[in-house]
Amino acid sequence: MSEKILDGKKLADLLNAQLKKKINQSFNKTKIQPILATILVGQDPASKVYVNIKHKTCADIGINSVMVDLDETISKKHLLQKIEEINNDEKIHGILLQLPLPQSLRGDTEEFLERISYVKDVDGFHPINRGRLFDYHEELSACTPKGIVKLLTHYNIELAGKHVVIVNRSNLVGKPLVFMLLKRNATVTVCHSYTRTLENITQQADILVVGVGKAKFITKEMIKEGAIIIDVGTNRLDGKLCGDVDFNNVFEKCGLITPVPGGVGPLTVSFLLQNTYYAYKNQLNL
Ligand code: GUN
Repeated sequence: MSEKILDGKKLADLLNAQLKKKINQSFNKTKIQPILATILVGQDPASKVYVNIKHKTCADIGINSVMVDLDETISKKHLLQKIEEINNDEKIHGILLQLPLPQSLRGDTEEFLERISYVKDVDGFHPINRGRLFDYHEELSACTPKGIVKLLTHYNIELAGKHVVIVNRSNLVGKPLVFMLLKRNATVTVCHSYTRTLENITQQADILVVGVGKAKFITKEMIKEGAIIIDVGTNRLDGKLCGDVDFNNVFEKCGLITPVPGGVGPLTVSFLLQNTYYAYKNQLNL
């Protein structure tokens, strides 16, 4: 069983332990601890859980973190002011605005992301950092796709010439992942809600990446024998976390697969911390 599992949790633990050492070395030199500020607007329970995990992991590895909890009634003007205030706080090296924003502010998401200083943009969502990824610069780029690429390369999965099918076209996952995979010479197909006969395309994937927000959406009829499956889904089913792939159904047929939980999720957090350390070093000229 375990030889088919791409163990994201184990890799994240390893990366976090390595990062902890580097942060400790930098702290010994500078006496300055990296600081991450997270901005959470409103009370979305899932977002609260994710932000708490991020803070706990920060504390484990020597990154200080500041929680900025804002009421969901905050105006656009005040949220922009708050971002500006944190931008100007020299003690803070990384800023994360937890998404999605409450409905009343959601339409302005891009404006908020653009207001975050691009040197503190540890999510890699600022237009400058997104644009740099277009030229294959990945220093401050999106954490989930970074985690996916690291997981594949850690398990020595060749990407050059492989057909990777991504069922997701979001700014957080699908779009940045395209550039990271092209950089590594994969052939990339992106599918989305308007894609016709999806299963005809997913069946061609050497590597299938899925983030559709539908529990157990991918079944064995939709994959090729031996395909590598990366499940980005985080759904709640009967009170348990469950991916977009019907894990038990595809397990026999696939080559390798990420579990949910314990797959991509911990690596997203890990790369948030890597990006925070990068932003810290960059701001301190280390
Ligand atoms: N919401 C879901 N994933 C993410 C992420 O990676 N970053 C932020 N800021 N919000 C998210």
